[in-house]
Amino acid sequence: MTSFSSVPGAPHAAILGLGGYRPRRVVPNSEIVDAIDSTDEWIQQRSGIKERRFASDDETVQMMAVASARTAMERAGIEAAQVDVVVVATVSHLLQTPSVAAAVAHELGTDPAAAFDISAACAGFCHGIALASDMVRGGTAKHVLVIGVERLSDITDPTDRGTAFIFADGAGAAVVGPSDEPGIGPVVWGSDGEQFDLIRQREDWRDVVASDEPRMPHLVMQGSEVFRWAAFEMAKVAQATLDRTGISIDDIDVFVPHQANMRITDAMARSMRLPDRVVVARDIAEQGNTSAASIPLALDRLLEDGQARSGDTALLIAFGAGLAYAAQVVKIP
Ligand code: UT7
Repeated sequence: MTSFSSVPGAPHAAILGLGGYRPRRVVPNSEIVDAIDSTDEWIQQRSGIKERRFASDDETVQMMAVASARTAMERAGIEAAQVDVVVVATVSHLLQTPSVAAAVAHELGTDPAAAFDISAACAGFCHGIALASDMVRGGTAKHVLVIGVERLSDITDPTDRGTAFIFADGAGAAVVGPSDEPGIGPVVWGSDGEQFDLIRQREDWRDVVASDEPRMPHLVMQGSEVFRWAAFEMAKVAQATLDRTGISIDDIDVFVPHQANMRITDAMARSMRLPDRVVVARDIAEQGNTSAASIPLALDRLLEDGQARSGDTALLIAFGAGLAYAAQVVKIP
């Protein structure tokens, strides 16, 4: 009988460094409202969004991903040659193949690192962290770069009342590597494909090409159904994550939900009975909903503002199209 050798992994994995990239152009609600017959008050009251960032021509998916990754690597003290895998979570890299991860890896100089994209929409970053943690502990990689990046302004219809004020652009990255102490807890993740149509690209590319007036297939969302699912079901996923990690809500210092809507964040915090002392990420006010980039960007802002500190215990929970979700507890680097 032939036996195979196996490569031992690290005892634990942790996030070693974080980085973010916010596009230069700030877009206040006043620039959005006319095309959707809305008001600054309505948008702030229903979503908590005051402004967002839209990428300029030079701020491509690749450029933003590379910029956020460089900061994360510098903060982690990791050279490009030490990165074994590059995972990019995105739904807005508009070249279907090859992966943007391959181009990002090459520009960063991590070749011949394995590089691939994952499609889990707004839940993509937490899916990537779960994969990276397992790779590091399983011996498949020592350092994994996880990047969440979106240019949703390319695939958002500026006249769609249900989405035009929500979606935005940006990138966030984390270096995941070996650790003596647990730094990334077990993931609780899943999907509900019965609700596949609630957030989706409006039409298939083949239908776009066959149409008399081909145009970009924008995102569409049944907002109130998604809102209800997120506000009620995700609080249960948060509790299941704490249970699986073997800690209680009292052990949490920082709560970083996907930045979808300030009212969803508040509803989740209420259902979870989050203690008042817990710092809650509210990056959506200035950043809008950047899908796969929202959690690393929100974490990055909390660190920059001094609201969160290295060593804090943070609960991350991401949810979106699929419907897909993923949550885990992490130590902030
Ligand atoms: O990132 C992936 C996950 N995404 C989410 O979790 C997003 C979840 N959904 C949401 O955040 C919210 O559903 C929205 C912010 C998108 C919408 O807020 P809502 O409170 O669910 O609004 P609604 O669609 O129920 O509409 C309420 C009212 C309606 O008027 P009536 O029928 O009450 O007279 C709409 O016509 O608001 C009206 N409305 C608007 N008014 C001004 C809808 N869109 C707009 C608008 N501006 N843009």
